Amino acid sequence: DLVAEIHKLETLFTVSPEKLKQITEHFVAELAKGLSVEGGSIPMNPTWVMSYPDGYETGTYLALDMGGTNLRVCEITLTDEKSEFDIIQSKYRMPDELKSATSEELWDYIADCLYQFIETHHGDCSNIPELPLGFTFSYPATQNYIDEGILQRWTKGFDIDGVEGENIVPMFEEALARRGVPIKLAALINDTTGTLIASAYTDPDMKMGCIFGTGCNAAYMENCGSIPKIAHLNLPPDLPMAINCEWGAFDNEHKVLPRTAYDVTIDRDSPRPGQQAFEKMIAGLYLGEIFRLVMLDLHDNKEIHIFEGQDVSTLRKAYSLDASFLSFIEEDPFENLQETHDLFSRKLNLTCTRPELELIRRLAELIGTRAARLSACGVAAICKKKGYETCHAGADGSVFNKYPNFKERGAQALREILDWPEKKNRRAEDPVEVLPAEDGSGVGAALIAALTLKRIKEGN
Ligand code: BG6
Ligand code: GLC
Repeated sequence: DLVAEIHKLETLFTVSPEKLKQITEHFVAELAKGLSVEGGSIPMNPTWVMSYPDGYETGTYLALDMGGTNLRVCEITLTDEKSEFDIIQSKYRMPDELKSATSEELWDYIADCLYQFIETHHGDCSNIPELPLGFTFSYPATQNYIDEGILQRWTKGFDIDGVEGENIVPMFEEALARRGVPIKLAALINDTTGTLIASAYTDPDMKMGCIFGTGCNAAYMENCGSIPKIAHLNLPPDLPMAINCEWGAFDNEHKVLPRTAYDVTIDRDSPRPGQQAFEKMIAGLYLGEIFRLVMLDLHDNKEIHIFEGQDVSTLRKAYSLDASFLSFIEEDPFENLQETHDLFSRKLNLTCTRPELELIRRLAELIGTRAARLSACGVAAICKKKGYETCHAGADGSVFNKYPNFKERGAQALREILDWPEKKNRRAEDPVEVLPAEDGSGVGAALIAALTLKRIKEGN
């Protein structure tokens, strides 16, 4: 009886308000631990981004955005008008094979995209002065300077030898030199830091930058005096410093997250088991895979009759379903679930009955809802750590922008965690709101490059 199975899945994947609060409490403590001298699982990386923009930054910068899915090159001109900019950009596919290529292949591919971009927009590369670049490298990196990045570990399924533990900047610069690309790296940043700075550029209430995409992470401004692990640098205690939390690593010890057997399998079979426990329950890279594992498990259990007698070999292929597969299911009108029926037939060669379709729909909702609710714990934890009673958080990424109801589900969870009464007037604002960010990795990288060059000029 599939209705009974749906109930079991509901129990497994539903995160109660009490659990959300418990996770958030632990999260606050773990954020502080990451800033301490002994450190914790959450890296809490100082980024050397040490001020918010004032809106009057100027200049032309290149921005390179290496996320997990796309490679984007932009040229941004910050104009004299307050908080205004012009942007041109090109997107390049990040071929899947690159995720496990050699380090040289990766950097050469990136250098090649930059070369093409400059040739298209400026003409002959050998004939133009070096352009300043903000490089958004969205992986955990230790930075002693803003133009350094020692890769702590690959995340988001990347697995390229010889890069972890190394400063990636010389590798990148060598590839630029090999290809003859006239670029000078001004700043290496994370996508969350870019999102934070770009959001604050247009909305001063923005106090954190979040990514809910292929990966999941956030950055916020800390005071140097609250970062014991850099106390030896004797920086003024009230000097701001953006922290790239790398909160995907939250609860790698598995103390509070309500992990299921499916989450355990995802971790075990990933290139970096034991890492990114929080991210693996939330991020777009994993949502479809969680769904696939549940469906297969139900099929393989002979007492549950699902896809009975059908060939599920396509469903057996790891990572064959992405988050857009679940988005599609959630968008389908419940009345007939025809689109879902056709999707299963087209992509997986499976014919679904109405009860199967209902289970599929409910499972997608449960996985999407769990992700949104858990992600709210991170946002709430930063608010609590900083004592923000009201603020905005800027968010970007495919899950935030495209996954149906993700925003509303996250907002609902925030209300539960932070104990706000149910809203009577739907138009009233919540004290803490997660809002779409302004293209963080383009504008943010340009702004950070501008702020950095200004700091260098002023001798700081
Ligand atoms: C993009 C940002 O919009 O969102 C990137 O420009 C960021 O910097 C990305 O990494 C995250 O989303 P996704 O879904 O591509 O991982
Ligand atoms: C992963 C990366 C992190 C990035 C996030 C979103 O968690 O480790 O650096 O910010 O994905 O792209």
